[in-house]
Amino acid sequence: MNILLLGSGGREHALAWKLAQSRLCDKLYAAPGNPGIAAHAELIELDVTDHAAVCRFCEENRIGLVVIGPEAPLVDGLADSLRAAGLPVFGPSRAAAQLEGSKGFTKDLCARAGIPTGGYERVTNEADGLAALARFGAPVVVKADGLAAGKGVTVAMTMAEAEDAIREIFAGRFGQAGAEAVIEEFLDGEEASFFALTDGHTIVPFASAQDHKRVGDGDTGPNTGGMGAYSPAKVLTPALEAEVMTRIIAPTVKTLADEGMPYSGVLFLGLMLTREGPQLIEYNCRFGDPECQVMLMRLESDLGELLFACADNRLGALPPPRFSADVALTVVMAANGYPDAPSKGGSIKGIAAAEADGAMVFHAGTAWAADQLVASGGRVLNVTARGASVSEAQARAYAAVDAIEFPEGFCRRDIGWREVAREQA
Ligand code: AMP
Ligand code: GLY
Repeated sequence: MNILLLGSGGREHALAWKLAQSRLCDKLYAAPGNPGIAAHAELIELDVTDHAAVCRFCEENRIGLVVIGPEAPLVDGLADSLRAAGLPVFGPSRAAAQLEGSKGFTKDLCARAGIPTGGYERVTNEADGLAALARFGAPVVVKADGLAAGKGVTVAMTMAEAEDAIREIFAGRFGQAGAEAVIEEFLDGEEASFFALTDGHTIVPFASAQDHKRVGDGDTGPNTGGMGAYSPAKVLTPALEAEVMTRIIAPTVKTLADEGMPYSGVLFLGLMLTREGPQLIEYNCRFGDPECQVMLMRLESDLGELLFACADNRLGALPPPRFSADVALTVVMAANGYPDAPSKGGSIKGIAAAEADGAMVFHAGTAWAADQLVASGGRVLNVTARGASVSEAQARAYAAVDAIEFPEGFCRRDIGWREVAREQA
C-alpha cells in the first residue's frame, strides 16, 4: 500500500526509516519531511490544516494508511476528517486527543477512573488561581491547560514563582492555551516514559524510555522538547510496567471507549515513579521525540503492520511487538541558542563518518542550502547508537557525535547519566 507520513522532525525520520522497511509499504510519501526523510520517502507539500486537501491527496494517490506524527494536527481533528473520508489513519480523534490537548480533561478523566496522579484544581482566572495556590502551598506545579509547545508548565519551588506563573497564564502569555490553568500537587521521584499501542479495545505495551528535558548537563537550565533519551528505561521494572498497564492505561482506554471517544494510536505516558508507586504526570497522543528514535532503533517487528493494525481495529490479531534486548541511546545536537533563540544556517558535515560504526543520525531541523546541509531549527540531529548497556550505547553515540562537524551547535554530554551511574555502582 501507499503510506503518507505527516511531520518533519527526528521522530518522523525514524518513523519513515521503519515504515519504508515494512512489508506493507509500496510507496512512502512524507509531508513536509526533511532531508533525512527524503532518503526513505517522496517529500510533498501539504497544508495539514487544510483537511480537504489532505483527503484529496490521499484519494488521488491511493493512500492506504496515514501516519500522523505530531500532536497539533491530531488535536485539530485531522484524524476525524480522514476517517470520515474512509481513510485508515494512525492517531486518535480530536475528542480522544484531548488527553494531550487539555490537561484539565486528563485530570478529570483520571479522577473519574481512579487513576493514580497528583491532586489538582482547574481554574479559569487569576484570582481563583492565586486562591487555589494558597491551599496547595509550595512546591507546586502550574500548567496552562492547552498545547503550549512544552513551555506551559512551571514546577514552582516557591509561592512567588507559582504566583508569577498564574499571572503570566492569565495575562495571555499562551493565548487560548492559557484560557484555563491546572494547579497540581508536586510529585517527587524519577521520571520515565512508557508507550502503549491501542485500537480502542486491545492494548499492547510498546516500550519504555527516559528523556532528558533540561537543556544543560546535570539536568540544569530551561526545559526543552528533549535533549536525548535511551530505551528501555530499566527503572520501570516489569512489575511497575504491569502496574502501569492495569492501574493507568487500561482504565484510561476503557473510560474513553465507554464515554464514546475510543482512543486509537499510541499512548505516551509521562510517569513519576514515587514512593507510593507510579503516578501519571501527563499523557501525550503521539510518539515522543526523541523517545521514538530510540524505541524504533530496538524494534524488530514490522512497524507498518503494527500501525495499520491500530488504524484498522485489528491489533488483537497481531503478535506483540518484539524488541532487541540492546539499549539504544540518542543524543540531540541542537543549534546554539536553543531553546530560546536557535541560530539558523550553521553548516553540518560528517554524517557518513558518524554512521560508519552502526550509529544512525536522524535529521530533525535540517535543510539543504545549495549543496550544503545546514541547521534550520532548534533540535537539528539525533545521533543514535545501540549497545549491550546504557554505558556502551552512550560511548558509541558520543563517538558518533564527535565525528560530526557542526560548529554552531551543541549537545549535552551526559545523556543516560542516571542509568550509567546505576550500571557502574
Ligand atoms: P509536562 O509538559 O506536563 O510533561 O511537564 C513538563 C515537566 O514538568 C515534566 O516532565 C516534569 O518534569 C515536570 N512536572 C509536571 N508535572 C509535575 C508534577 N505534578 N510534579 C513534579 N513535576 C512535574
Ligand atoms: N520528548 C518529550 C516529548 O516528545 O514530548
